[in-house]
Amino acid sequence: MRVLGIESSCDETAAAVVERRDDGSARVLSNLVLSQVREHAAFGGVVPEIAARAHVEALDDLVAAALAGAGTRLADIDAVAATAGPGLIGGLIVGLTTAKAIAFAAGKPLVAVNHLEGHALTARFTDRLSFPYLLLLVSGGHSQFVVVEGVGEFRRLGSTIDDALGEAFDKAAKLLGLGYPGGPAVEEAAKRGDPRRFALPRPLIDRPGADFSFSGLKTALRLAAEAIAPLSDQDIADLCASFQAAVTNVVADRAAHAMRMFADRYAGPDVLVVAGGVAANEAIRVALRAEASRRGFRLVAPPLQLCSDNAAMIAWAGAERLALGLTDSLAAAARPRWPLDLTAPAVLGSGAKGAKA
Ligand code: KG4
Ligand code: ZN
Repeated sequence: MRVLGIESSCDETAAAVVERRDDGSARVLSNLVLSQVREHAAFGGVVPEIAARAHVEALDDLVAAALAGAGTRLADIDAVAATAGPGLIGGLIVGLTTAKAIAFAAGKPLVAVNHLEGHALTARFTDRLSFPYLLLLVSGGHSQFVVVEGVGEFRRLGSTIDDALGEAFDKAAKLLGLGYPGGPAVEEAAKRGDPRRFALPRPLIDRPGADFSFSGLKTALRLAAEAIAPLSDQDIADLCASFQAAVTNVVADRAAHAMRMFADRYAGPDVLVVAGGVAANEAIRVALRAEASRRGFRLVAPPLQLCSDNAAMIAWAGAERLALGLTDSLAAAARPRWPLDLTAPAVLGSGAKGAKA
């Protein structure tokens, strides 16, 4: 079964073709991601209107290139899958409408995919995991622990009550004049810094549950920076190292709690999957690996190009849904908010924490 996937929920335009075999194995036939980072860099973050227009301009050619790269024609595709939410509504509408048009013109089924489900199911085709498993999703828009019980079946164990972790990295970078996206810049600067120079808070550490909070840490970082301004390069490196050490401690502690919750409630092999752009962070990966092995969990970290935003994960989620007969009508709507676990109480707040957490 071959599925064309389209992703346009934030600042990456992406198209991919994935082949799923009957035994559940998969091959990525093409996986194209066009970053809009340069369009948004001058603004220090993603501008929704610019993102939507950039998706419109790029998507047709990108879909054609993904099909060509996969050596396949539209006629040989079994379904068209597109991200329908959560995310920036303008971009979602561009991708979903394009997918509907292709599906209608080619007479193929449409699958409207939850972007978070795309992240959540990626480890199924990279590592052939069976359900259930524990997922830590840490990206620019999301920070949450979710038990992936099945296709469309999720149980949230914890999530951020304010900023997402990637967002915290981006804000730290902006504060220190390091540019956007901030995560890689903070990690790079941290390598030259002293993580013990600034005693930054570790929000929620040792508290019950598996929620995150990063906004107090952001404020503490700002105050520490203001107290010693103007900042030398070494000051910036030390602030980055201290910030990264704090969030790494927090992630390890929260993961320990989530793993305990998972082990208490679910039988079977204990697996922790980490996905999202922040999973690129070496310090966080090392801490998670240590914490997982301490608790008898296997840590699965899909390759970076499949765990940051991409369309292969959307095509794969589409293939999993198609295999279960779960397709959508051409009336499917784009949804800016679409939590994975519909039974979990809403996380109150504004901005990224409300829309994406
Ligand atoms: O998953 P992703 O590509 O897009 C979404 O947000 O959905 O994640 C991007 C986020 C950004 O906030 C970026 O700063 C962060 O991941 N990030 C990192 C690193 N690389 C990317 N954060 C910390 N360390 C990194 N090396
Ligand atoms: Zn994402």
